[in-house]
Amino acid sequence: MEFRLGFAGFGVVARGLCEILIEKREMLQELYGLEWKVVAISDFRLGSIADGNGIDIESVLETLKNGGRIDNVDAPVKGWDVPTMIKNSNANTLVEVTYTDVKTGEPAMTYIKAALDNGMHVVSTNKGPVVKAIKELRELAEANGVRYGVEGVVLSGTPVLNLVEYTLAGNRISEVKGMVNGTTNYILTKMEEGMGYKEALEKAQELGYAEADPTGDVEGWDALGKVVILTNLIFGKSLRWEDVEREGITKISAEDIKSAQEEGMRWKLIGSAKLLPDGTVKASVKPKKLPLSDPLAGIPGATNALTFVTDELGPVTIIGPGAGKRETGYSLLIELINICRFS
Ligand SMILES: NC(=O)c1ccc[n+]([C@@H]2O[C@H](COP(=O)([O-])OP(=O)(O)OC[C@H]3O[C@@H](n4cnc5c(N)ncnc54)[C@H](OP(=O)(O)O)[C@@H]3O)[C@@H](O)[C@H]2O)c1
Repeated sequence: MEFRLGFAGFGVVARGLCEILIEKREMLQELYGLEWKVVAISDFRLGSIADGNGIDIESVLETLKNGGRIDNVDAPVKGWDVPTMIKNSNANTLVEVTYTDVKTGEPAMTYIKAALDNGMHVVSTNKGPVVKAIKELRELAEANGVRYGVEGVVLSGTPVLNLVEYTLAGNRISEVKGMVNGTTNYILTKMEEGMGYKEALEKAQELGYAEADPTGDVEGWDALGKVVILTNLIFGKSLRWEDVEREGITKISAEDIKSAQEEGMRWKLIGSAKLLPDGTVKASVKPKKLPLSDPLAGIPGATNALTFVTDELGPVTIIGPGAGKRETGYSLLIELINICRFS
């Protein structure tokens, strides 16, 4: 299949994907029959260009690296906003990587709907539209005979959605649990190495894992959002934020860490969703003491790890990196490969 890619937004993730596509052009063609060109880019800040025959994407990346703008690169069309690009370009796939608004899902949701209605595939790392309207958007994609690939919207560096959809297909999954917030896992790891909570938090901030206001991470809000998305995508539910029990790591003291160590246990902030016999889901984000024999207990630092409890295989655990330029770019590549495989 030949992708004619149109990019909505051309920041970190978009460039990560382009780097991989350029470096792996031959491999992708040989193994998956995946051919591609970029026919349009529309970015608020960096400008917009389009060329139905293919943009010189190496030049775009080089220009941006040198501090230039996208529209410094030669192209027959300049200045299209995203809706115009969707309507007027010859792109057959929208790579939607604009900014996230989890409250409204906009403007990404409008772009995605327009593209699907236009018969374009969509791949996106934007969690806003998924939180707001995943069911509606998936139905719209199906009605139009195209795909809406969202691997990167949660745990972007760890491909959990594809693992469930393809590799674990045929299993009944009864529970998903694990560390879905790298910052808190890093802090707990450092506390186990002997740092106090405050010192460990400062170190996490110094390394850029934690924000200046760490509430979202340490009080479990970020993990809660991920548990909601995972539950709704994996179990097909409509869980809301208020349905999830939440407790962060701020009450865990150095003494708690030490006494757990003495018992051969380790504290982790665990996000979990368990399917109950009546078909409902019980979900929570809570610190839990795990025995060292639990694979989740052995995962240090800012790493994602999720265990899926399945009926055929028992527990299956995936461990992987958090977000990042190439990692999140790769999550888009998986979805492009899926389009080749399953279209
Ligand atoms: N970076 C990661 O590791 C990661 C991981 C998982 C998910 N994501 C998600 O992936 C998406 C892209 O992330 P990123 O890190 O690439 O962001 P980024 O570097 O900030 O790039 C986004 C680009 O899109 C532009 N933009 C925003 N709204 C737009 C619109 N309506 N039309 C056209 N251009 C628009 C931005 O311009 P302005 O700066 O002017 O707004 C910016 O140049 C986000 O939704 C993010 O939450 C990122």
